[in-house]
Amino acid sequence: MSEPLHRRTVLRGAALAGIACVGAAACSAGGSASGSAPKAPTQETELGAADAIPVGGAKLYPEEKLVVSQPVKGEFKCFSSVCTHAGAVLNKLDKEVATCPLHGSRFDVATGKPVHGPATSPLEEIPVKVKGGKLIAG
Ligand code: FES
Repeated sequence: MSEPLHRRTVLRGAALAGIACVGAAACSAGGSASGSAPKAPTQETELGAADAIPVGGAKLYPEEKLVVSQPVKGEFKCFSSVCTHAGAVLNKLDKEVATCPLHGSRFDVATGKPVHGPATSPLEEIPVKVKGGKLIAG
């Protein structure tokens, strides 16, 4: 009778160990992830109309793994949307704060700085300019 319980306990322990291992792997990658994370485009990338970015807000470009903000009218900032913690791509935006889906880090996309951990390093800044009303990153 105690064998099924023991077996269940063992299985449960193994499952928890697996979860812990996955978590540890994701977290241990954090220190070196910034070096191995997907890089932002090295060549110029057109992102579409500059007026798609609200003043005091931002827009995510998931395919390009970029986020562009406009803290002040006519002043654009572009960052890689690859989280500096373990390399997930930021997928939520609330005005100028982007959130990572993996462990919940949040970044101020006007400055690139983390405003909530576990990430501690800022997002990689990418040069951006406006040409003919269109945003060009890279
Ligand atoms: S990858 Fe861990 S918070 Fe983004």
